[in-house]
Amino acid sequence: MKFFIDSADVKEIETAAALGIADGVTTNPTLLAKVPGTPEEIYRSICNIIDGPVCAEAVSLDADDIVAEGMNLAKIHDNIVIKIPATKDGLMAVNTLEKEGIKTNVTLIFSPMQALLAAKAGASFVCPFVGRLDDAGHVGMELIEQILQIYENYGFTTEIIVASIRSILHVQNAALIGAHIATIPLSVVEKLVKHPLTDAGIQSFLKDWDKVQDR
Ligand code: E4P
Repeated sequence: MKFFIDSADVKEIETAAALGIADGVTTNPTLLAKVPGTPEEIYRSICNIIDGPVCAEAVSLDADDIVAEGMNLAKIHDNIVIKIPATKDGLMAVNTLEKEGIKTNVTLIFSPMQALLAAKAGASFVCPFVGRLDDAGHVGMELIEQILQIYENYGFTTEIIVASIRSILHVQNAALIGAHIATIPLSVVEKLVKHPLTDAGIQSFLKDWDKVQDR
């Protein structure tokens, strides 16, 4: 299973890289707004840290404009993947960009049919948002199961990035059902490693180690 880091914060991405768990990065305009620097500077810095896909979101709405924006973003670095919302114009742009050899990630996916269309349009990745579905009273992880089943039925190679992850259980369930990738905020990555019994075990071992030193 691949882990992407869902962040535009270079320090967070450095930490994830040092942990050896970062296979790629997803950003979006909201994440960019939280950190200093121009989008281009941020993407360049991230690409210098991570040797894997770095998703940069196109904000145009018209197909031709998305293609032009995507082509410009792709010039920043070979690892840039163009994140494009799941709309009719977005899928047209995906089709064009992928034919030009530029990888795309169809984002803001909330239904299995959006994911099927994205795969048919040639997307390299799709981003179904589980947390936002849970927030709206649905079971986000069911969408991941449905997309996995549909892609398996027809042999699509589009990779599923489980996105909008809020909890340890989101990551665990994504792994259990075999999602290809989870894009995870660093705060959740840090929770994945923590266990109170590990902390208690360290404390009791250190106490007993002191006794051995007094001998
Ligand atoms: C993924 O690529 C998205 O940018 C991200 O996971 C959205 O998460 P949110 O619902 O917490 O904003």
